[in-house]
Amino acid sequence: MSDIVAEPMRLSPSELRTLFLFEKLDDDQLAWLSKHGYCQTWSAGEPVYNEGDPATCFYVLLSGTLSMHRRVENTEVETGRTNQRGVYAGATQSFLKGMAELPYWGSVRAVTDCDFWLIGATEFGEKFREWFPMAVHLLEGMNQGFRSSQAIIGQRERLLSLGRLSAGLTHELNNPATAAVRATASLRELVSKIRRKLAHIAVAQVDPKALVALTELQESAVEKMAKAEKLSPVEMGEAEDEISGWLDDHGIDDGWDLAPPLVEAGVDTDWLDEMAATVPATLLADGLHWVTYALEIEQLMVEIEDSTGRISHLVAAAKQYSQMDRAAHQEIDVRDGLKSTLIMLNHKIKERGNITVVKDFDDSLPTIPAHPAELNQVWTNLIDNAIYAMPDGGTLTLRTSREDGWVLVEICDTGVGIPKEMQQKIFEPFFTTKPVGAGTGLGLDISYRVITQRHGGDLRVKSYPGDTRFQVRLPVTEPPSFG
Ligand SMILES: Nc1ncnc2c1ncn2[C@@H]1O[C@H](COP(=O)(O)OP(=O)(O)OP(=O)(O)O)[C@@H](O)[C@H]1O
Ligand SMILES: [Mg+2]
Repeated sequence: MSDIVAEPMRLSPSELRTLFLFEKLDDDQLAWLSKHGYCQTWSAGEPVYNEGDPATCFYVLLSGTLSMHRRVENTEVETGRTNQRGVYAGATQSFLKGMAELPYWGSVRAVTDCDFWLIGATEFGEKFREWFPMAVHLLEGMNQGFRSSQAIIGQRERLLSLGRLSAGLTHELNNPATAAVRATASLRELVSKIRRKLAHIAVAQVDPKALVALTELQESAVEKMAKAEKLSPVEMGEAEDEISGWLDDHGIDDGWDLAPPLVEAGVDTDWLDEMAATVPATLLADGLHWVTYALEIEQLMVEIEDSTGRISHLVAAAKQYSQMDRAAHQEIDVRDGLKSTLIMLNHKIKERGNITVVKDFDDSLPTIPAHPAELNQVWTNLIDNAIYAMPDGGTLTLRTSREDGWVLVEICDTGVGIPKEMQQKIFEPFFTTKPVGAGTGLGLDISYRVITQRHGGDLRVKSYPGDTRFQVRLPVTEPPSFG
């Protein structure tokens, strides 16, 4: 028995000429194609080729209907369907430098029975370069230019937004840090003053009982201070006058120096009377100084506690925002990300002036599976756009609510709005109405992809002048494509 190798079916040069791709080729070229290409049939439902496989063939559809697919995360999305004779697919760029090694970037299936004309990518690529050298140069230039500008822009954009954020954060950190440093310096001075005062009192050989009484009075003043109500500037002035008067009456010289901290601590003349009754007259001035220093020290410590608390609050927000040391994919509460993004953008919001921020958060929001760092990028882009849309101030509202199987996040502004005919365009990459240098037009494109492709969600806009809402819907349960 001898092996019979079936000769594949070929198309004649005149048949090839009926395909729009080849209609302008000369006889020699068509003869070469006729000799090297061949026909093949796929039955309905069969895969013709798969995304990611080595791109070895160039395909031209002769009859039937095909569908094209791309994998997005783990699901396959149909990107098109056609029965147009002559459409081509497969290794369509094998003649470009650096492209021949790339795999198929999508899949093709036969929807009905399909006939294709095929040719090997390597030999076709080589011939193509030989026949059309100038076209190849032009296509290569375009391809390379597009890819490198895309890469540079993407990188630049990320750097710029990081730079902007860290500048804002640095500014926010600077105030409490400076306050803490300043308070610490004053504290050092006061501690040394109180030490000297104590030595002074000790030298005066006072009755130890009086010293104990003085310490108790100091304690009671510190306690009073913790509970003291905040006075208005007018009330404060009146209270200071009253205390200065009392100090003058009791022969204490630098009353103007002591009065403000005593008033701040909520000390009144009743307390001063008690002090005068408890400690010997010789100790009154020194004793009062001593108590005042203690009160000032207490105040500074509260200030330091506030400032350092604020610093760690900011650092915690930055950490939650950047998702440092956290898993990329987790169950999250979207409100955490919204809050930390607001803190990160606080500087920018304040800079605009006149923007009121409203947080309308649903208390019973379920957690959702998500990539929190990526969602924070989305909140940043949407809030950034909203701030920009309100140059004269307005209201920025962040709203969360539950809607069937979705968590709905709305970022609303009261700015100029987006004209109806522009509402689809804004999601396109590089579409921007901002002046050169102010925007790259990538914010919404990136956000749209993060929400739809990475989270199986949906991003929409509703906009009228004075009322613009970007609505993000995220599924409460894991979508099948989630990775
Ligand atoms: N809240 C909004 N109000 C009015 N117009 C908006 C709003 N959000 C987006 N737009 C419009 O959509 C365009 C595209 O927004 P997108 O965020 O994609 O890019 P950008 O903000 O211009 O630049 P960047 O890349 O810096 O974000 C904006 O230029 C603006 O015209
Ligand atoms: Mg933007």
